[in-house]
Amino acid sequence: MDFERYIRDIQDFPQPGVIFKDITPLLKDPQALVQACETLCGMVKDYAIDKVVGVDSRGFIFAPLIASKLNAGFVPVRKKGKLPYKTISESYSLEYGEDTLEIHTDAIQKGEKVLVHDDVLATGGTANAVCKLVEKLGGEVVQCNFLIQLTFLNGADKLNGYDIKALLTY
Ligand code: PRP
Ligand code: MG
Repeated sequence: MDFERYIRDIQDFPQPGVIFKDITPLLKDPQALVQACETLCGMVKDYAIDKVVGVDSRGFIFAPLIASKLNAGFVPVRKKGKLPYKTISESYSLEYGEDTLEIHTDAIQKGEKVLVHDDVLATGGTANAVCKLVEKLGGEVVQCNFLIQLTFLNGADKLNGYDIKALLTY
């Protein structure tokens, strides 16, 4: 499927000079939504995934769909102060700003195989922080997958050693 035709460029969002990749045209199309999920899952078929970790907030759209299809559990990594139970945290710098991510301390057991999912890989700061959180809990990150990888921002450099997959690269 030509997924690219379901991605809409929005000029100067969320700030001047940035071209935002809007995935809502893909989400609202029933076939594109299912196919995108199937394709992402097909990229991880060699692993027995225990947990799919999705990143607050746009990673929450596909991560549970992927988890359900892979018979894995879903784990939310959330921005600071949102998770109710005991957490560990990791700070990171973002394409536009800085933030802290948290995960519940009981979300992943030692040795579990983890798939990290987010909508976009830009500078890699977010995904790198998520991988650190997973590894602090003893999980093994077997792949990071994304709907979109913005290769010109060199996010893969920050994820050196990880298996990175994306539905679309720009
Ligand atoms: C965006 C995007 C990724 C991250 C990628 O999230 O959804 O999570 O930036 O950037 P990076 O590779 O440079 O770290 P954002 O923090 O804007 O929040 P949102 O998902 O809640 O919209
Ligand atoms: Mg995000």
